[in-house]
Amino acid sequence: MAQADAAAACAAAAGPCRSPGQEGPGGTGCLRPRARSLGPASAGTRLAGLPGGPRPSAQRCPSPCSWRHLCSAWVPGVTGGPPAGRGWARAGPPQAFEERQLASRDPVAQFGAWLAEALRCPAVGEANAMCLATCSRDGKPSARMVLLKGFGQDGFRFFTNRQSRKGRELDSNPFASLVFYWEPLNRQVRIEGSVKRLSEEESEQYFHSRPKSSQIGAVASRQSTVIPDREYLMKRNAELEEKYRDTPVPKPEDWGGYILQPDVVEFWQGQTNRLHDRIVFRRLRDGADPPGPMTRRGEGEWVFERLAP
Ligand SMILES: Cc1cc2nc3c(=O)[nH]c(=O)nc-3n(C[C@H](O)[C@H](O)[C@H](O)COP(=O)(O)O)c2cc1C
Repeated sequence: MAQADAAAACAAAAGPCRSPGQEGPGGTGCLRPRARSLGPASAGTRLAGLPGGPRPSAQRCPSPCSWRHLCSAWVPGVTGGPPAGRGWARAGPPQAFEERQLASRDPVAQFGAWLAEALRCPAVGEANAMCLATCSRDGKPSARMVLLKGFGQDGFRFFTNRQSRKGRELDSNPFASLVFYWEPLNRQVRIEGSVKRLSEEESEQYFHSRPKSSQIGAVASRQSTVIPDREYLMKRNAELEEKYRDTPVPKPEDWGGYILQPDVVEFWQGQTNRLHDRIVFRRLRDGADPPGPMTRRGEGEWVFERLAP
């Protein structure tokens, strides 16, 4: 898409949202698109970490419109202070994210608390979008966005084509990393660990919980392979729509879920003065370093430390 087309599409989708420096004196109402739902809760307790149900297709953002939103829907609560982006700088001083403000000394529960706040913030478009970094056997990294489709003590779930680049990399090197960034809240979460395939049963269940058009799209697209043109994909999609008009769409053999079991989880809360907060949890496995004087005990196998920003 040409730059001008992209700008026009953006303006149409996002309403009167303006670029930095263009915002009006009192701010402009910004219609932010709500791109995706988190997926139906029907995938069962596996998705218990994520509230199900669709979100509205568009929502009027109550905050003043500027490039960095101050999320006015931020709910004072269990974790840390209010968002500390530029918007907050106008509204008042930032608050530190202290260890005593952790919602839990279990990083998965702490993640849940931050995700819940991101989901409640209308200025966050897709709170469950995350960057997944994988690595080839010979150490070459690659990264892309995917959607978190569930999380719990056993790990963080996502779904994809197992013959895609990421799928093939995970087959040869199971170590991966996830990054969430909730810009209006000035928060980042990094997660590192090893990845396993979810069962066929769970993959089937999730596949069939998706809209039929998404199921057909997954069959039509052999993800990450070279295709001649867009027309090819459209034609294949139309043929499959016809084929499965009255019958269920079978899950492609290569499509399925993965779960990343975390060993490291870092919570980053940005501050306006560059003295950002970083609290990193690591799982103490047998043979791991014993806690040092600045290491605190978390729940279970977890310990946590503060890192310099
Ligand atoms: C916000 C967002 C969410 C995405 N979610 C997924 C997803 O859940 N699963 C997936 O396979 N691709 C998803 N994609 C597409 C991937 O980023 C990527 O293009 C695709 O998986 C192929 O990646 P690969 O060739 O590195 O394997 C998403 C893209 C964006 C921008």
